[in-house]
Amino acid sequence: MKISGNAILITGGTSGIGLEFAIQFLERDNTVIITGRDQHKIEEARKRVPEAHIFQSDVSDVRAIPLLFHEVIQKFPKLNVLINNAGIMRKINLARDEEQKDLQDISREIETDLVGPIRMVQQFLPHLKRQENAAIVNVSSGLAFVPLPIAPIYCAAKAGLHSFTQSLRVQLKGTKIKVFELAPPMTQTPLFAGDMRAGDVKGVRMMDVSRMVNAAIQGLAEDRLEIRPGKSNMLKLMSRVAPQFILNRLSKA
Ligand SMILES: NC(=O)c1ccc[n+]([C@@H]2O[C@H](COP(=O)([O-])OP(=O)(O)OC[C@H]3O[C@@H](n4cnc5c(N)ncnc54)[C@H](OP(=O)(O)O)[C@@H]3O)[C@@H](O)[C@H]2O)c1
Repeated sequence: MKISGNAILITGGTSGIGLEFAIQFLERDNTVIITGRDQHKIEEARKRVPEAHIFQSDVSDVRAIPLLFHEVIQKFPKLNVLINNAGIMRKINLARDEEQKDLQDISREIETDLVGPIRMVQQFLPHLKRQENAAIVNVSSGLAFVPLPIAPIYCAAKAGLHSFTQSLRVQLKGTKIKVFELAPPMTQTPLFAGDMRAGDVKGVRMMDVSRMVNAAIQGLAEDRLEIRPGKSNMLKLMSRVAPQFILNRLSKA
């Protein structure tokens, strides 16, 4: 895909990978629109990327998606790229009763990381079909190929997003929309500053976020439909050639 002159909507663009995408796409002369929930993060992002247009919106809220769509399309009728990036990741131990989440809470990653992108695609698809050079980029994870068992719901959501993206690509084959999947490796972002900690996955060196996003944009420019920077490539390979070995390794966390 062309990597300048686009109007790009990035969900979860107020932090980490989404924010870095905003920075690097702005440097390449794109119009960038980002979303997020937290007002404080929105204010911080406004300072970091004053040229970006920011909308407060929760991708896991079914009512928020059409509202976001109408607001964004009214202001940016040429919007041609959707990056489904917003995501959350939690450590959940299903074996420990005291850690059991309630039924609403247990599937939060599914709502945000899987259902959110599916609904965003459904909502934005008719508009994207009418654009030249349209693209959808779903941000999954290297953990879409093999799970890290301490984050079972997250990994299930990302595996689901990987599968959904493959089907979407087949179904949109006759259209002008390119469907990409970015499967980042462990990357230095605030995702590992809360419930999850870098130390939870021992022996894995985190990728620098600006290098990761630079590699991702390079992949988009080269029309690589499944972009697996750094260790993600190895995770996919291992999930094929030695699936039990790599699962055992990730089970040590
Ligand atoms: N970092 C990694 O190692 C890594 C590896 C593989 C894949 N990924 C994926 O990359 C994506 C970005 O992660 P990150 O590492 O950049 O994490 P991050 O720094 O925590 O950023 C997550 C972004 O998503 C937003 N967000 C979370 N829930 C949202 C919701 N319901 N609606 C709208 N926005 C929401 C957050 O803002 P608010 O909290 O204010 O909403 C924030 O802007 C995620 O999909 C993640 O799974 C990350």
